[in-house]
Amino acid sequence: MRKSEAIIDNGQGVTPKEKTPSITGAFLPGATLGILGSGQLGRMSAMAAKSLGYRVVVYDETPEGPAVSCADLAITASFNDPVALVRFASEVDVVTVEFENIPVSVLEFLEKRKPVRPSSRVVLICQDRIREKEFLLSVGIAVAPFRAITSALQLKKALAALGGDSILKTAALGYDGKGQISLKPGNDVTAAWEQLSAPLAVLEQKIAFQSEASVICARSVSGESLCFPVQTNVHRDGILDVTTVPANLPESVASKARAIASDIAEKLGVIGLITVEFFVLADGSLLVNELAPRPHNSGHHTLETTMTSQFAQHIRAVCGLPLGPVMLRSPGVMINLLGDLWKAGQPDWKLLLRESGIFLHLYGKKGAKPGRKMGHFTLLGEGATVRDRAIGLRTLLSHSES
Ligand SMILES: Nc1ncnc2c1ncn2[C@@H]1O[C@H](COP(=O)(O)OP(=O)(O)O)[C@@H](O)[C@H]1O
Ligand SMILES: [Mg+2]
Repeated sequence: MRKSEAIIDNGQGVTPKEKTPSITGAFLPGATLGILGSGQLGRMSAMAAKSLGYRVVVYDETPEGPAVSCADLAITASFNDPVALVRFASEVDVVTVEFENIPVSVLEFLEKRKPVRPSSRVVLICQDRIREKEFLLSVGIAVAPFRAITSALQLKKALAALGGDSILKTAALGYDGKGQISLKPGNDVTAAWEQLSAPLAVLEQKIAFQSEASVICARSVSGESLCFPVQTNVHRDGILDVTTVPANLPESVASKARAIASDIAEKLGVIGLITVEFFVLADGSLLVNELAPRPHNSGHHTLETTMTSQFAQHIRAVCGLPLGPVMLRSPGVMINLLGDLWKAGQPDWKLLLRESGIFLHLYGKKGAKPGRKMGHFTLLGEGATVRDRAIGLRTLLSHSES
């Protein structure tokens, strides 16, 4: 294998590159990237774009988002404000999203003016659990058994049909385990339906998975796709808690996960990143849990662990550049820092920062609330000892007060 192939293919991509890729038509450094949404994903994407030399404009309904301080210009306006959207479009060369809950009408409006990556079609699919599952089934990818639900009566029938423990989820706008209710056969479905308080929901069979994993796949304007290494994720109360890379999986399972993610990227025709969350079953088979057409919390470790971070890759793809290499530079463990740690004030960061191999990222959010993602850290290294040390350091922080 020639050296250029080794760099680009890495056993993880689907399109080995043989010659220098063309970047005709790309938005080169100096151009302006528009980001819809201003949360931590927008912040880290903005930082990656700035470091490549792009100008960044963020648009959000609140002026307080973590991305605002990293942008050259922040437009604060309703997503229903056509005047502000026209101004945003006139300021930028290309538009991306930092979360999928942007109204699709906004993306369609902007698409008439500037390239929007990912497209409104991709976001439409990924912002609704039912559309997402139907898309996956239509391209032959397995998901947990589910039923679409619009009433308590339907819920009752579906709970009986699925025949065991299930999870009721709002079709739209759920994140970090919000908008989900666990149900067992015989539970009061009327109360659950009222509590969910959503017009449309999905009832999913609760899967007794062996582990959870995710794969972030980038797809460029020219159709090249490349997957980051597979990672193992542990959730607590529906919120990502710990990510370990590489995943603790046999290579046969990991390569299957990457192949599924590349297939999804291809079939969606996404430009940018698509993150695929998986349930890994005891026999090594995989069910896709959900998709996110953007950088993902489980990929934060790539800031240190891979040659190109997920944020830099997203910017490269969206701006029409060739993808960067994604080989693992170091194994690592990513630990989320939730607002719960701020109970007694600012945690004592000395306890973390005195340790070697720790990379701390704080999102600059005002107002720490339980369950709110305030930051994360990555500890480089591999194996249960490193993972336990990382978790132990967070426990230490939780008892601290600076
Ligand atoms: N069908 C299921 N079976 C078992 N666990 C589930 C199921 N659906 C969700 N979960 C658990 O809840 C977590 C969050 O659910 P998910 O559907 O990914 O929603 P969110 O959009 O909040 O991330 C999952 O990562 C998993 O740990
Ligand atoms: Mg999820």
